[in-house]
Amino acid sequence: MKKVYLETFGCQMNVSDSERIASVLESDGFKMTVDENSADVILFNTCSVREKAEHKLYTRIGQIRKFVSGNPVVGVLGCVAQLEGETLFKKSEGIDFVLGTQAVGRVSKAIDNVFDGQKHYIDLGKREEDYDWTVAESQRHSPYVAFVPIIEGCNKFCTYCIVPFSRGREKSLPATDIIRHILELRHQGIREVHLIGQNVNSYRPIDNSGLEKFRGATAFSKLLRAVAQTGMERIKFATSFPRDFHTDIVEAINENENLCNWVHLPVQSGSSEVLRAMRRGHTVESYLKKVDTIRNSSRQLSLTTDIIVGFPGETKKNFQDTLKMVEYCRFDSSYIFKYSPRPGTPAFEIADNVTLDEKKERFIELDDLQKIIQQEIFKSYINRTVNVLVEKISVKDSSQYSGHSTCHKVVNFKGSKDFLGKVVEVKITEAKVNTLYGTV
Ligand code: SAH
Ligand code: SF4
Ligand code: F3S
Repeated sequence: MKKVYLETFGCQMNVSDSERIASVLESDGFKMTVDENSADVILFNTCSVREKAEHKLYTRIGQIRKFVSGNPVVGVLGCVAQLEGETLFKKSEGIDFVLGTQAVGRVSKAIDNVFDGQKHYIDLGKREEDYDWTVAESQRHSPYVAFVPIIEGCNKFCTYCIVPFSRGREKSLPATDIIRHILELRHQGIREVHLIGQNVNSYRPIDNSGLEKFRGATAFSKLLRAVAQTGMERIKFATSFPRDFHTDIVEAINENENLCNWVHLPVQSGSSEVLRAMRRGHTVESYLKKVDTIRNSSRQLSLTTDIIVGFPGETKKNFQDTLKMVEYCRFDSSYIFKYSPRPGTPAFEIADNVTLDEKKERFIELDDLQKIIQQEIFKSYINRTVNVLVEKISVKDSSQYSGHSTCHKVVNFKGSKDFLGKVVEVKITEAKVNTLYGTV
């Protein structure tokens, strides 16, 4: 039995793809291992969204070739593979095969071909019509939480972003398949599903089969109501695209207890001028209107976001507007990134007049502000009770258990083994910037 080590970079979609890659390998007679030193095959499922993520791949291949004996087969999969194709073989000598984002279902064939002596095997082809989106129970990242892809690809072409090139056009999965998938997961004991996609709320299947019975202003809000009906205990979804964020989503959440109280809505900038240059399709004003709807919901919804600082042409004033926007929105958490130029995107061609030092300074200033706001929000949870799905024993302290609240905050508490996989009520006693602590 050949042993395969698989390392994953990037977003939830990549984590989810890796779960299926491992499932296929296992059913084709390979054995997954967490030990790279004993592996016959080493796979990297890669991310290209920022330069750093891409560089990680080259560093890791270098390390493998230098320190791992036995000369394992090395395959590169995912976004960098799709974008670089053949050129990867020139960029890094240690690579045996390359599989694009839609070709990952054919991973066993690629490995077999290399073992049969084929050099520099490459497949950047389309996804199989009958591609299986489910994951073997043995290969899930969690026994209690499952990712369910509902849409892949992206049609938005924000000027800084490589994803539309690495992932292709938006394609929604049939609602009937999604619902069947979730019913199966529920049957298997999964307590929480995350509907995932680059832009989940752009969900638009070719026909409405499976959604006919459900009310909703958009196909996505119909899908939310349909998924709520499956009886899955907790349902979360990410990422939402601001322009396509219909207020009916908030109504669907308010109507269904099992749709969790968390919305991830990346704003990217607090300056409409910068948003126009990013071609985001929304302004600060239109974004804030949606934030108001979310904040005025009858349930207290937590709101998180992504922000890019130092986009080419971003002035000091534009950046001040981002600080103001963050003060207004009071995000529960925020992923802040320094703009990273990606070859092949329109923004890459614009002269970048924001120096690296300025990007760093803006990052720190925004991060400091976010931390202050976040600490206030997290402190406001003290003495309140939240529902937590107990997911694992804490890495730092084995008497501590850890999980996520319905508002998607990490909560740590003292527990015992039989709590694992259960939803418990935790009274919050202490709050740090990113974590809540409490007692069951
Ligand atoms: N589809 C989602 C985001 C997907 S990419 C959306 O539109 O909101 C995840 C995040 O990476 C983005 O929200 C953005 O903040 C960041 N990102 C994408 N390209 C980037 C780049 N070139 N430099 C820095 N951050 C980037
Ligand atoms: Fe990238 Fe924009 Fe698509 Fe998000 S919506 S994946 S930022 S192009
Ligand atoms: Fe990265 Fe590809 Fe996801 S570029 S963020 S792994 S879609």
